[in-house]
Amino acid sequence: MTTVRLNSADPVSFDTDALVVGFVSGPQGPRSSIEAVDSAFETALATVAFTGKAGELAKIPTFGAITAPLLVAVGLGDSADQEGLRRAAGAAVRSLAGTARAALALPATSAEEAEAVTLGGLLGAYDYSRYRTNGERKAPVAELDVLTSAGGSAERASIVADSVALVRDLVNTPPSDLWPAKFAEIAEQEGGKAGLSVEVLDEKQLKEGGYGGIVGVGQGSANPPRLVRLSYTHPEAAKTLAFVGKGITFDSGGLSLKPSSAMDWMKSDMGGAGAVFGALVAIARLGLRVNAVGYLCLAENLPSGTATRPSDVLTSYSGKTVEVLDTDAEGRLVLMDGIARAAEDDPDLIVDVATLTGAQIVALGWRTAGVMSNDDAVREHVVEVANSVGEGAWGMPLPEELRKGLDSPIADIANLQPERWGSMLAAGIFLKEFVPEGRRWAHIDMAGPAFNKGEPHGYTPKGGTGAITRTLIGLAERAATGLNK
Ligand code: BES
Ligand code: MN
Ligand code: ZN
Repeated sequence: MTTVRLNSADPVSFDTDALVVGFVSGPQGPRSSIEAVDSAFETALATVAFTGKAGELAKIPTFGAITAPLLVAVGLGDSADQEGLRRAAGAAVRSLAGTARAALALPATSAEEAEAVTLGGLLGAYDYSRYRTNGERKAPVAELDVLTSAGGSAERASIVADSVALVRDLVNTPPSDLWPAKFAEIAEQEGGKAGLSVEVLDEKQLKEGGYGGIVGVGQGSANPPRLVRLSYTHPEAAKTLAFVGKGITFDSGGLSLKPSSAMDWMKSDMGGAGAVFGALVAIARLGLRVNAVGYLCLAENLPSGTATRPSDVLTSYSGKTVEVLDTDAEGRLVLMDGIARAAEDDPDLIVDVATLTGAQIVALGWRTAGVMSNDDAVREHVVEVANSVGEGAWGMPLPEELRKGLDSPIADIANLQPERWGSMLAAGIFLKEFVPEGRRWAHIDMAGPAFNKGEPHGYTPKGGTGAITRTLIGLAERAATGLNK
């Protein structure tokens, strides 16, 4: 755990183990906003060929030139916006694992920018060490000081960072230690602590309640499914938001089994439910003036003698019947129930979040989620909010002509279109069928962004990223301040 303080002390004389200073690249070489640092370290930085380009890091021993024994120069490029500050702070703090105390002197000129530095630093300090026994691990920075006179508070950043870390932990947890009932138990405990009301439906209640999708996906596993409803209300709220998360604690594909190379990271298939849970916890802790409900659609998708077979027909919570042509297209089956249930809360907006399709990664890559909606303004709003908090997102269409590809010869709809082209959009079209007429809804496919298979970058670690958690918090903040939706 990293503790953080905002502090207006002078960086040059500040007592810490490492001073992180942000540099912009310029015609005369890298420049920070601290003159004494520029003059003392110009030669040293030139010697290590540090230019100040975004993401660059250089560590220079200070030999008494400043109080801190180590200077960490971090590049900001030509100039840094809030996201540039978050990334620079995150990369620097991550590189300091094993150091007890660090201070960040990045050029924040407003309270928002100071908070961006704080959040970036905290997100960069994340570390998942639950399963390490060999002692080689370096502990994250324990004490972080953000040196700024721009104001701001560390409280919001800490709450947001805690939620993102909670989601990353859940995504990183091996599926043998995170099955649906376990996730539900964590939601009850942690959600309760944050002040949320939490209700859990077990497999029997799901069957009786008509949740055919969640039951059908979960029935192949010895670990039965759950539906968790989290709710937060504010007495002066003007808006109600409903978030629905795909929570497949492991996706083997079911009887339509995945090849091994596509399966080894499918513990991350609950990232949508993770984001919804993390966001609800943050919304409650921040006390936002909004009502929010979150649904975690939890199931484990495994093959067995009790599993749903390709060609089985499930009856969804909405009453519509679905022919399961491919048991690996399971996310839409749990979400169809969650979305239909969420609509009963009469929300102003439903947003579902899911690691739904490989096609999202084909279309938009690892860092950009696809956003679809039954309302153009809603889609643009969600994309704008995501981008404003520094999360990659891009609007995608829901072309009506794809609907006929989902026709089933025997049921109301099939869960798979025969061809693979446009499968991210076809999945969106499928979900839209379960949104009641006139209900505003957006769908976020974040198959790529939820899990970082590559190297760490900025404030993003390897493994679980906590993607879209901050977008959902941002949507709630906008709704709370009357800035719409
Ligand atoms: N969980 C996967 C999608 C996924 C793929 C998430 C890669 C993260 C990374 C989903 O349940 C799935 O298997 N989708 C299939 C759908 C297909 C059968 C229509 C896919 O994308 O191949
Ligand atoms: Mn699947
Ligand atoms: Zn899946």
